[in-house]
Amino acid sequence: MLVLGIETSCDETAAAVVSDDAPRIRSNLVLSQLAEHRPYGGVVPEIAARAHLDHLDKLIERALDEAGVGFGDLDAVAATGGPGLIGGVMVGVMEAKAIALARGLPFLAVNHLEGHALSARLLEEVAFPFLLLLVSGGHCQLLLVEGVGSYRRLGTTIDDAAGEAFDKGAKLLGLGYPGGPAVERAAAAGDAGRVPLPRPMLGRPGCDFSFSGLKTALARRVEQGGDAVADLAAALQAAIVDCLIDRTRSALRRCRAAHPVRTLVVAGGVAANRALREALVALAAEAGVAFVAPPAWLCTDNGAMIAWAGIERLKLGLADALDFAPRPRWPLDPDAAPAIGAGVKA
Ligand code: KG4
Ligand code: ZN
Repeated sequence: MLVLGIETSCDETAAAVVSDDAPRIRSNLVLSQLAEHRPYGGVVPEIAARAHLDHLDKLIERALDEAGVGFGDLDAVAATGGPGLIGGVMVGVMEAKAIALARGLPFLAVNHLEGHALSARLLEEVAFPFLLLLVSGGHCQLLLVEGVGSYRRLGTTIDDAAGEAFDKGAKLLGLGYPGGPAVERAAAAGDAGRVPLPRPMLGRPGCDFSFSGLKTALARRVEQGGDAVADLAAALQAAIVDCLIDRTRSALRRCRAAHPVRTLVVAGGVAANRALREALVALAAEAGVAFVAPPAWLCTDNGAMIAWAGIERLKLGLADALDFAPRPRWPLDPDAAPAIGAGVKA
């Protein structure tokens, strides 16, 4: 089974060819739009959509070339159908539908979050159910993953996502965009102990997250002056990691009481962070569960995870109609109660 995966939900134009046979990833191209968005300090949706439109055709051609296949060898086309910046999602969905229609192939509209969620199963055997910490620029959730298309949300952020906390913190520290990798680099030379920052929600019942208070505290500290940027970055990273670990510990306790969860998985762009990965290794050991993290290049947005989620769905006989409408919001667990707070994306 050979599937083309297209990802255009944010600021990366990505295309990949993935097989269910080894080696699974035949090609995986990610074109970052960093240069286009950098002058604005964040992603500008209209610029993103136009850049996807400019580059997607060529990128798909290159992904097929690198994989050594043509459209005629594909078994299906998968594209991110949401959630995300709607202009970009539309570009990817229209492209995938056009290829599917022209070639008579099944079309799969993949939930971007499901792409992240199943990415751990692309390179390793990970059995359902597992507990997933999904941490990206737009989302911060703890999910019980019972199977493909079957998710129970245990916790979510009531304000900012973890990646947003890194990005907004980086902006306050003048470290530029995207913030996560910049904070991680700066933190390597800093001492977290020199700057006390709060850990919102720590020790609270439940598994929800909150990061806006941390951002405010960091802003105050920056205003006061006197701290080294490296120390501030280290303190920010340590505070975010502590919050993520505490909430994940709470979720492990909760779901192990009721479900046979033997694996903890982390996914999404923030999962590329080494301090977080090390802390999760320790947490999994403490809780007696296995820990799986995809390689960092599979944590940030890419087409391979979309193609893989497409394969997982296709194997279950699932495909989508060509009248599928792109979804700016698309929660993995439709039964989860809406979280309070303005910045909540799903
Ligand atoms: O999954 P992703 O590529 O896009 C979304 O779906 O949002 O995640 C992007 C987020 C950004 O907020 C970025 O700052 C963060 O992931 N990120 C990191 C690291 N690499 C990317 N955060 C912390 N440490 C990193 N090394
Ligand atoms: Zn993502």
